[in-house]
Amino acid sequence: MIAKHSIDQVLETAQVEEVVSHFVNLKRRGVNMIGLCPFHNEKTPSFTVSPAKNLFKCFGCGKGGNAVHFVMEHEGYSFPEAIRFLAKMYNITLDETVADPSESEDKQKKDSLFIVTEFAKNHFVHNLFHTQAGVNIGMSYFRERGFRENTIKEFSLGFAPDDPTDLTEIALRNQYKKEFLVELGLCNENGRDFFRNRVIFPIQNLSGKTIGFGGRILGNDKKIAKYINSPESEIYNKRKTLYGLYFAKNDIRKEDSCILVEGYTDVISLHQAGIKNVVASSGTSLTDDQIRLIKRYTQNVTVIYDGDAAGIHAAQRGTDLILAMDMFVKVVILPEQHDPDSFIKKEGPNAFRTYLRDKAQDFILFKSYFLKKEINQDPVRKVAVLKDIVQTLSKIPDPMARNTYVKESSNIMDIDEAILINEVNKVIKNEIRQKRFRESLRDGEPVAQEGNFDMPDSQPVHEQSDFTNKADESMERGLISLLINFGNTLYDEKSQITVAQIVVSGCAELLGYFTNQVYASIFREVIHKTSAGEVTDQKYFTNHPDEPIRQLAIDLLNSPYVYAGWQNKGMELQTQRMPDQNFKNEADQLIIRINNRKLTMMIEENMKKLDKLDPEDPEYLISLKLHAKMIEQKKELANLIDKVIG
Ligand code: CTP
Ligand code: MN
Repeated sequence: MIAKHSIDQVLETAQVEEVVSHFVNLKRRGVNMIGLCPFHNEKTPSFTVSPAKNLFKCFGCGKGGNAVHFVMEHEGYSFPEAIRFLAKMYNITLDETVADPSESEDKQKKDSLFIVTEFAKNHFVHNLFHTQAGVNIGMSYFRERGFRENTIKEFSLGFAPDDPTDLTEIALRNQYKKEFLVELGLCNENGRDFFRNRVIFPIQNLSGKTIGFGGRILGNDKKIAKYINSPESEIYNKRKTLYGLYFAKNDIRKEDSCILVEGYTDVISLHQAGIKNVVASSGTSLTDDQIRLIKRYTQNVTVIYDGDAAGIHAAQRGTDLILAMDMFVKVVILPEQHDPDSFIKKEGPNAFRTYLRDKAQDFILFKSYFLKKEINQDPVRKVAVLKDIVQTLSKIPDPMARNTYVKESSNIMDIDEAILINEVNKVIKNEIRQKRFRESLRDGEPVAQEGNFDMPDSQPVHEQSDFTNKADESMERGLISLLINFGNTLYDEKSQITVAQIVVSGCAELLGYFTNQVYASIFREVIHKTSAGEVTDQKYFTNHPDEPIRQLAIDLLNSPYVYAGWQNKGMELQTQRMPDQNFKNEADQLIIRINNRKLTMMIEENMKKLDKLDPEDPEYLISLKLHAKMIEQKKELANLIDKVIG
């Protein structure tokens, strides 16, 4: 039990912004700090920390609380574990009596496993530094590879001699339980050591505790596995581990970028050369969980492929995964026969840095060039190659970014842009369909909104007559008025985002639901221009070759009543002069309301579909579930409207 006064002391001392900063990259925003939420996937920060209130809150996923809650949620700790963690961080000595009986056996077992890996690690280190074989064989191996003593110490590298019971014997003599050694894969049932005659690379978790080991043979014997690794255990989950992250996390955050390499030795060599923002996937293909780990610290990843590039194709799956998580990916191909470790050793750290700086390429553009070369060499493969790039492009979640890349890829690869768009949309639509299907079979999960993924261009324009009503049109008019009057006004000084950019990113997918075709044409043009990084200023519209557009623009610019009541139907039509300062709030409200309207339309459509379907049809059940979920979403949106608009 931890004494109450100790708990209070921790609660009073722990500063939420300090604690959170250990895990999340925070930037100051007025009196608060903001960052990307570590608890859900997001690309624009909605995770807010208030130092004054000593609380954090994510407006995206709703998680919130104080420093203790944060640590519990982030590290998966129980309350007492979180208190102990914070006490350690703030050098507070806890007044604690006998072990808390409420703590689970599970936790006790994990602790025991950690104690055993710690013992094993220390033993391997001891071997390396203080035994004859260790010094003569292990240490000379590391020194030959150019690892300096302090590097060897920092990474706790070790040595396992060619003795079948070296570790097990001493562990048992010191009362460590054999069942734990076996579970950790350190010995087998017969008490024989797993790691023998190898140098040892301990693997750390995020807080620096040893969770497993990699062991490398001492020579280059092709007949023996170069590396063997600890099996998974209760404390070692390979899919959720990146080698070196414990040593790299601060630098990843500082540099706002992460270098991804393949091997243990690459991480260590780069680190030794002063390039410390580096982690390794350790030879396996990258997983979602590993990417999410990186994303806690940065959105920028540079993947380094070995120069013996069987790599490119093999690693592409991993790279597509990174893209799908809304991160920015660059790739670097090393010269033939090199990996980062050998390159640094041969050319030195400065040459490596220069190489990285000059050769790092945007992944998609790199891929486009690469595939184009492939087409030129083998035109028969063109179709397959096209499929490949289309797959990659379809993984980019952000419609604006995707649009830009489609354009650039079509240029590089000499493929008609329209064809590329069409193919990418097919893939996206298909994926949405499958995703919906999967989700409709699973309860309680939110349904993907089709619009989130669709290209504005691909949106069918909906049958007008069904949905047209005055309130809808005035809402659209409000949006267009906002764009024409304030499109180029900065919505946010700091990030230099314009109102048009905000509206396009929040509503582009609603284009297909517009009821008035003049408004739709204007919106379509704004989307295209904005996506291409161009601006549509007032003159652009007042000089427009299209007469109705020109007329409308002039009307809207001259009318003081730009917001002639786009509020919900049934509400009193308000006519208000738009205050110049208020456009920001108006933009937010419009986006929410228009999304709300789209949801209403989707519900109506789905209901019509339900009417036509035979209840025996499997589609019927899917539509039914979809309906329930959309109704739920609508409720959530209604809450949001209440909150934002009041
Ligand atoms: N790996 C493994 N088992 C193997 C080969 C490789 O687990 N038989 C993993 C290791 O984590 C290794 C990574 O894949 O670090 C990359 O493999 P490789 O490039 O072959 O090894 P390097 O790290 O370059 O090791 P070295 O420099 O000692 O050759
Ligand atoms: Mn390698």
